[in-house]
Amino acid sequence: GLPEEVTIYEVGPRDGLQAEKQIVDTATKIEFIERLRGTGLIAIEATSFVSPKWVPQLADAAEVLAGIGAPEGFRHPVLVPNQRGMDRALEAGAAEIAIFVSATERFAQENLASTVDGAIESATPVARQALEAGIAVRGYVSMCFGDPWEGRVPIGQVVAVVRRLADLGCRTISLGDTIGVATPGHVRALLGAIGEAGIGMDRIALHLHDTYGQALAGVLTGLQCGVTEFDASAGGLGGCPFAKSATGNLATEDLVWMLDGLGIRSGVDLDRLVQISGWMAARLGRPSPSRAVQALYRE
Ligand code: HMG
Ligand code: MG
Repeated sequence: GLPEEVTIYEVGPRDGLQAEKQIVDTATKIEFIERLRGTGLIAIEATSFVSPKWVPQLADAAEVLAGIGAPEGFRHPVLVPNQRGMDRALEAGAAEIAIFVSATERFAQENLASTVDGAIESATPVARQALEAGIAVRGYVSMCFGDPWEGRVPIGQVVAVVRRLADLGCRTISLGDTIGVATPGHVRALLGAIGEAGIGMDRIALHLHDTYGQALAGVLTGLQCGVTEFDASAGGLGGCPFAKSATGNLATEDLVWMLDGLGIRSGVDLDRLVQISGWMAARLGRPSPSRAVQALYRE
């Protein structure tokens, strides 16, 4: 059967805003996160401590973290690519981090100017330092299904990287379909292989993009396989500026609509969320790609 309850891990303020051509001002980012906290979302990824030369959209990471504070009961993880990012994140008071690597060599190069091994090697001391400081570590693996340069990604290659992040002590490992090519059969096959490698579904999250309209089908498959954490982006914001053909993330609203229909608790108030995404779409000057936002938003 399906789980009764799931965690929605909101990535809009980070994955969403990192891909916006126009840089959203710091005050708007803070207001966005504060409003999202009013919807019942608990885990809201706030920003990234990456090189501002690579992602100028999130150069104000420290200011955003200071602005949103650390109210009881919420999680605001931040992305950390290297030691420099870790130093900045600690100084800004981050209480949870996410490290990120790629399942493919080409995307390790495009996204981190490194190799798969090199990226894991730079993440290793960061993860160790975080765990010693009592800071939870999430691990992302990008290009778990297909890669714009390398094509279909072999399942064994993905499982090997997931295994290494699990061994580093990542509490959750998020499987990124960075370019949104996963289909339900592929999701089932990958989750099956991860399970056979001895990694429990309680440590796996799915991070799906909706390029081919298959993200919700992938979520349903994940639910059937025992996954209980799903990444989504309010209003379907975002993508990845370093991956050709990456479109928006699965919209949180579309996910909540399906979960509500299935009677699976997420704690998220759909109507409130829709209003926030409508507000953000107006700020960005274009309509939300989320089907649920389009259907439900009232000005
Ligand atoms: P590099 O160019 O090799 O770095 O990039 P470097 O060490 O040569 O440093 C270059 C400059 O950046 C130096 O400054 C460093 O100090 C500075 P300069 O001396 O020239 O003035 N620098 C930093 N500044 C601030 N914070 C830092 C930092 N690091 C270096 N942390 C690097 C290597 C890893 C830095 C770069 O590739 C990078 O920042 N990559 C991050 C790219 C990114 O954020 N991508 C999007 C997130 S991943 C994603 O979206 C996928 C996901 O959603 C899941 C999915 O969908 O698959 C998670
Ligand atoms: Mg993403």
